[in-house]
Amino acid sequence: MSQHSADPAPNTALATVASHRDWWRDAVIYQVYPRSFADSNGDGMGDLEGVRSRLPYLRDLGVDAVWLSPFYASPQADAGYDVADYRAVDPMFGSLLDADALIRDAHELGLRIIVDLVPNHSSDQHEWFKRAVAEGPGSPLRDRYHFRPGKGENGELPPNDWESIFGGPAWTRVPDGEWYLHLFAPEQPDFNWNHPAVGDEFRSILRFWLDMGVDGFRIDVAHGLVKADGLPDLGARDQLKLLGNDVMPFFDQDGVHEIYREWRRILDEYSGDRIFVAEAWTPTIERTANYVRPDELHQAFNFQYLSTHWDAAELRAVIDRTLDAMRPVGAPATWVLSNHDVTRHATRFAHDTALGTQIRDAGDRELGLKRARAATLLMLALPGSAYVYQGEELGLPDVVDLPDEVRQDPAYFRGAGQDGFRDGCRVPIPWTRTGASYGFGSGGSWLPQPENWGELSVEAQQGAPGSTLELYRTALAARRAHPDLGAGEAVEWLKAPEGVLAFRRGDFVCVANTTGEAVTIPAYGRVLVASAEVTVAEAEAKLPSDTTVWWTTA
Ligand code: NOJ
Repeated sequence: MSQHSADPAPNTALATVASHRDWWRDAVIYQVYPRSFADSNGDGMGDLEGVRSRLPYLRDLGVDAVWLSPFYASPQADAGYDVADYRAVDPMFGSLLDADALIRDAHELGLRIIVDLVPNHSSDQHEWFKRAVAEGPGSPLRDRYHFRPGKGENGELPPNDWESIFGGPAWTRVPDGEWYLHLFAPEQPDFNWNHPAVGDEFRSILRFWLDMGVDGFRIDVAHGLVKADGLPDLGARDQLKLLGNDVMPFFDQDGVHEIYREWRRILDEYSGDRIFVAEAWTPTIERTANYVRPDELHQAFNFQYLSTHWDAAELRAVIDRTLDAMRPVGAPATWVLSNHDVTRHATRFAHDTALGTQIRDAGDRELGLKRARAATLLMLALPGSAYVYQGEELGLPDVVDLPDEVRQDPAYFRGAGQDGFRDGCRVPIPWTRTGASYGFGSGGSWLPQPENWGELSVEAQQGAPGSTLELYRTALAARRAHPDLGAGEAVEWLKAPEGVLAFRRGDFVCVANTTGEAVTIPAYGRVLVASAEVTVAEAEAKLPSDTTVWWTTA
C-alpha cells in the first residue's frame, strides 16, 4: 500500500466543500488562462499571484473549481503547452511557493484547483530531449521520443506522411540526419509512451502535484499518447480535415485507456474526491465516453457540443446523443462553449460559420452577444458539469483584428491549425473601466486590448442590472439553490415551436428560442432567470428572439 493511503490528508483546508462527494458531477469549472487573467507585477503577463488575488471574484461568481492552463517552466513556444520542467513554475508566472499559496487560498474559499497536465509531448528544451539530440543516433534517450531515420536515398524525406496539427509535416530533422515526431509545433516533440521511463515519470509528476494538494488534472491531448504500431502512413493529404471524423494512427488509439486506468488507481489513493478531465478530440461522443468508464477518467470535454451551431434541432440532437453516450458508463455529461483554442462563442454566434472557420471580422456583435447569453443559460440548465472560459462572463468577443506582428500562436505561423487564430480569445481580460491594461495589471498587456475593453470590464458590469456578468452570477446562484439544475442524467423534452427547445427537469423548465423571431410559449411558472426580458401575461409568455428563460414550477 502506498504511503498516500496511510496519510491521505494533503488536500489543505477543503473542509468547507469536502462533504459534497462527487462534487464534479454537476460542477461549474472556470478556466483561467494564466497569461491573460491578472498580472501582479506589471510585466504585462498574468501570473499566479494575480490569480490568487482574484480568487474572491471567482468565489463570488459562484463557480466550484478553477482549471489553470499550464504555468510550468516552458520556453512558451505554444504558450506553456511546451513544458521543459513539469515540477517547476515558470518564473514569468511565479514560483512553487506561489502555486502552494494559490491552492491553499482557493481551498479556504471553497474553490478547487485543477491543473493542466501535458503528457503527449514535452518542450524541445526538456532535459531528456536536449540530451537525446546532443547524444546523437543510438542514444537511449532517443527512445523516449519518436526518433527515426528518414526515407529517400539520403534519408531526406520524413519517416511517414503524418501532418502536424499546426500545419506542415509532423517531423523535423536534427543535424545528424534523424527525424523526430511532433504532432504539434517542432518545439513539442512527442513522447514515446511505449518506453517505461515515460510512464514512470508521469506517475511521479502526478504524485508531485497531488501532494501539493491539487484537486485534479485536465489532460492535454489525452487521445494522442499512443501511436499505432509501426507509425503507419495515413495515405491522405489535408489530414486536418480528417481529424474528428475517424480514428487516426496517432489519435484515439485503444492503448491510451490502459494509461488512464493506471492513473486512476493513483488518484484514488488520495483523499478529497479529486478528478481527471480529458481533452480528447474523438470522432464521436460515444468514443469520448470510453475515456470516462468507471475505472478511467471522470470527465471529458464535449467538443461535439462546442462545435454545434445556435440551432435548436442541432442542439437537441447533440444533447440527446451526449446523454445517451454517457449514461451507460455512469459519467456526467460536460458542456462547454469556449476555451483558449477556439473563437469565443460571442463572436462565433455573430456568424453562422462552422467551428474551425477562420473568423476575421466581428460580425453582428449585438446578435452574437444575445445568442451567447442565451446559449450559456441553456448550457447551465443541462445535467452534468459545465466549463466557463475566463471573460465569457463579461460577454467578451474575440479580438479579430489583432495586428499580425503581435500574434504569438504557433498555429498562426504554420499557416493552419486549431481555429487558426487562437490569439483572439487570449487577450487579457479587463477588470476596470480605465487605467493601464484596464486593471489587468499596472503595466501593459502581452496582447493589445481593444479600445472599448473598459466598457466590458468587471467594474463596469458588476451590479449593473442586465449585464452579462450579473446574468452569470444570477444563473450560477440559481444553479446552486435549485438541485434539479445540473443534477441527473436526462432531460424531459416538452413540445415547443420549431426552432425552440423546451425541457423539464423536476421543478424546473428551460426554454431556449434559437430563432430570430419572438415566440409565444406557455408561462410555466415563475421566471427564475432570463437572458433577455421575457413578458408574461397570465398563462402565456413572449420569449424574444435568441433568448433562454428558466422557470421554476415549484
Ligand atoms: C491542446 C491545448 O488546449 C492547445 O492550446 C495546445 O496547443 C495543444 N493541446 C498542444 O498541447
